[in-house]
Amino acid sequence: MRLCLIGYGNVGYGFVRVLLRHGSWLRERFELSPKIVAVHDLRRGTVLSSLGLDLMVLAKAWEENRNLSELGESSSGLDAFSVIKESNAEVVLELTPTDLATGEPAASHIRTALSLGKHVVTTNKGPVALFGKELLVLAREKGVQFRFEGTVMAGTPLFSLIDSGVAAPIRRVRGILNGTTNFILTQMEAGKTYEEALSEAQRLGYAETDPTADVEGFDALAKILILANLVLGGDLRAQEVPREGITKLDPKEVQNAPKEGCRWKLVAEAVREGGEVRAKVGPERLPLSDPLSQVSGVLNALTLEFDPLGAITVIGPGAGPEVTGHAVLSDLLAIHRGLR
Ligand SMILES: NC(=O)c1ccc[n+]([C@@H]2O[C@H](COP(=O)([O-])OP(=O)(O)OC[C@H]3O[C@@H](n4cnc5c(N)ncnc54)[C@H](OP(=O)(O)O)[C@@H]3O)[C@@H](O)[C@H]2O)c1
Repeated sequence: MRLCLIGYGNVGYGFVRVLLRHGSWLRERFELSPKIVAVHDLRRGTVLSSLGLDLMVLAKAWEENRNLSELGESSSGLDAFSVIKESNAEVVLELTPTDLATGEPAASHIRTALSLGKHVVTTNKGPVALFGKELLVLAREKGVQFRFEGTVMAGTPLFSLIDSGVAAPIRRVRGILNGTTNFILTQMEAGKTYEEALSEAQRLGYAETDPTADVEGFDALAKILILANLVLGGDLRAQEVPREGITKLDPKEVQNAPKEGCRWKLVAEAVREGGEVRAKVGPERLPLSDPLSQVSGVLNALTLEFDPLGAITVIGPGAGPEVTGHAVLSDLLAIHRGLR
């Protein structure tokens, strides 16, 4: 399986490290030996190698911040589209930064790859939240797979569980889909102010310098849109989904809630009712009997409701380079199984 990486940042590097660690297991267990034949990154440059790059060398180049062009065939002046077209990759991994307003440039990269009959794996929420259905139709027309396990709950299996382990329509999903806000709320519950909790999250690398996407609920909104439209079969746009973040919560109320048998959480929910799908994102005061109330720190969780099992809750890490690299690998395995 020949791969092309568009975007070689934290997730790209995490994926290479996971491949390095589990390469022999993948070969023995699944007869899968992925080769990276092209990497294109705005910051780190471009490299093509039709026979496959040495993963150790590729990882080292990332660690030493070296330009990738030193590692393989001449590739100067190639943009992402040319790399997708000219490399002999069968699968394109789209790992560029998320733009929740336009989905670009990832959406165009993905359209180009799918149109050329290449499978695509992405961890980028933007194109999936905005154009997921269109991209899935294009993939189907071209007879290839478009997979996005890493876009919701990062490496915690969710879409693969839904695709292969659930044999009934899902009625409702409700979850904690943003680890940064959950960390901040956990800290506030322990007595920190919102500002103190946010700076702790920033110090630990959980929150961006500009935390708006997390604390105002935009990140959770993108994830619930993906679930509402691609799992529950809705046709929602971001502006149709009520959204509230955690910035207006009263710290005393967050701190005191457990004494009253409750906890404040930022909950994203999508439900199918009477043929209609609705979604919302906002803080909720959950009883301690709700499994979501027991999820603390940066962990994510999602409760899925379907007949006859009732509610099933999946809890796991929602971010991290290797964790998200695992999601990429799990999508590659699904493609591999499909090809066989
Ligand atoms: N990190 C996580 O835990 C995590 C979890 C789930 C999902 N994700 C998603 O996965 C994606 C990758 O995340 P990340 O943490 O690896 O981000 P990152 O560290 O910022 O890496 C993205 C890389 O892509 C490069 N890039 C930007 N525009 C590009 C373009 N047009 N063509 C090629 N390369 C381009 C960036 O270069 P510059 O730095 O020069 O812009 C950077 O090196 C994002 O969409 C993110 O939201 C991340």
